Amino acid sequence: MPKKGIMYMKEDEKILILDFYGQYNQLIARRVRECNVYSEIKPYDTPISKIKEINPKGIIFTGGPSSVYEENAPMIDQELFNLNIPILGICYGMQLITYLLGGNVEKANKREYGTTTVTLDNTSPLFAEFGTQNDCLMTHTDFVKNLPEGFVNIASTSNCPNAGMANDSKKIYGIQFHPEVNHTKDGIKMIHNFVYNICGCSGNWKMSSFVDETVKSLKEKIGNKKALCALSGGVDSSVAAVLLNKAIGKNLTCIFVDHGLLRKNEGDEVEKIFKEQYDINLIRVNAKDRFLAKLKDVSDPERKRKIIGEEFIRVFEEEAKKIGKVDYLVQGTIYPDVIESGSSKGQTIKSHHNVGGLPEGVDFEEIVEPLRDLFKDEVRKTGLELGIPENLVYRQPFPGPGLAIRIIGDVTEEKLNILKEADYIFRDEIAKAGLDKSLNQYFAVLTNLKSVGVMGDCRTYDYTLALRAVETSDFMTATWAKIPYDILEKVSVRIVNEIKNINRIVYDITSKPPATIEWE
Ligand code: XMP
Repeated sequence: MPKKGIMYMKEDEKILILDFYGQYNQLIARRVRECNVYSEIKPYDTPISKIKEINPKGIIFTGGPSSVYEENAPMIDQELFNLNIPILGICYGMQLITYLLGGNVEKANKREYGTTTVTLDNTSPLFAEFGTQNDCLMTHTDFVKNLPEGFVNIASTSNCPNAGMANDSKKIYGIQFHPEVNHTKDGIKMIHNFVYNICGCSGNWKMSSFVDETVKSLKEKIGNKKALCALSGGVDSSVAAVLLNKAIGKNLTCIFVDHGLLRKNEGDEVEKIFKEQYDINLIRVNAKDRFLAKLKDVSDPERKRKIIGEEFIRVFEEEAKKIGKVDYLVQGTIYPDVIESGSSKGQTIKSHHNVGGLPEGVDFEEIVEPLRDLFKDEVRKTGLELGIPENLVYRQPFPGPGLAIRIIGDVTEEKLNILKEADYIFRDEIAKAGLDKSLNQYFAVLTNLKSVGVMGDCRTYDYTLALRAVETSDFMTATWAKIPYDILEKVSVRIVNEIKNINRIVYDITSKPPATIEWE
């Protein structure tokens, strides 16, 4: 079984986040990075020797679902308090500090969840430049009843008298609420205060530092060995590939499986950027016929998805085998993928798969995931730092199964061509109208409905095309976009005039939920 490899970077100035399994941990890391300080998440039981080696300027204990009195509650080595490194405990982190340093944690009768007004002692360096009250997100059952010796109270709510505590001389702080989420007003300023006022960071980290450091550590790790990357044409795998190319040049080979289900011209654009701009070893496999053959007469959306996902891996495996043994397999996994694949409790609405799942029988030793800790917007910034063209970096999300799930019913080459052209016109008009930055996703769907129309003096019996455009920030929920009628009209007239086989256009006015963004 190949080892899972995560890239760690060697930064001079770093905040260490000790993970107690809280749901917002990556968000804490991200907020620290937004303060221009690099942060790294490690398990709560990371040995002291390792922590000394990391030499962080400060440590944050995250929240977590446990109670300190529980059997097997995650604990830390108390030696951590003697390292003279500033500590901020959030939620469970605060309770843990209290428990270990001799204070008292108790269970409340009922869980407190929601945004609450917190009274702050704004003379504390943690709350510098705050007023005396602030809206903060509380989500806890246990609470700190008595502070440990040497600590003073710096925050309270009507329900929770000890919502914040400080030991300024030891630079140990605890807060019961979550500064990392948007529900806490100006929470990032609290993190900023901790990182700057308390830990003394200078804030010299930027996205370009991420690029430099990652390239450096990839170089050290991979050296002269060989790496293989599956390119899908999407942002994540493209950024991962360019990072690797910067680090190891021709020792990286990219395989771009073109399933023929990409948007108009997209396959050629990807090839051009990677071959011409970056001179990357790129193998493009034109596998359209193979995918269409597998999809023949298949109209069930889930089957389409499964077929495409599996076929993608098979094509990749075949090409990879021709190359022979490689040492590393590069994946463009980003943090939201890590969360999604980690949460197994939800019902499967659609089997989303990101092209580039794990191939079998490909000979490699370790997986490299240089973007594993980043959020999508951070990946985009990294892409821009690397000089990847804006139109690729800001490409709207495109599903792994491609246009196959935007053709309702069975997929044929003819339908694929119709949809490609129609979608191209829609995108063209949206860009001309200057709406391409404000709409988060917009595309055409070829329905399997035919209806009667009239063109010139002739009867037509052709396809109905649906236009879909949504505004969303997380793609979990979305509102249908109120595109001005005159733009919709232009699109409609152009598509019906320029594309044979479409005689009717409809605009999708459902939000998500109840609909989903894609039609299949
Ligand atoms: P839905 O249709 O579930 O889509 O509302 C939410 C977002 O996910 C994209 N999507 C996919 N992305 N593989 C992907 O990589 C998939 O199988 C897939 N299905 C949907 C969709 O385009 C939207 O942005």
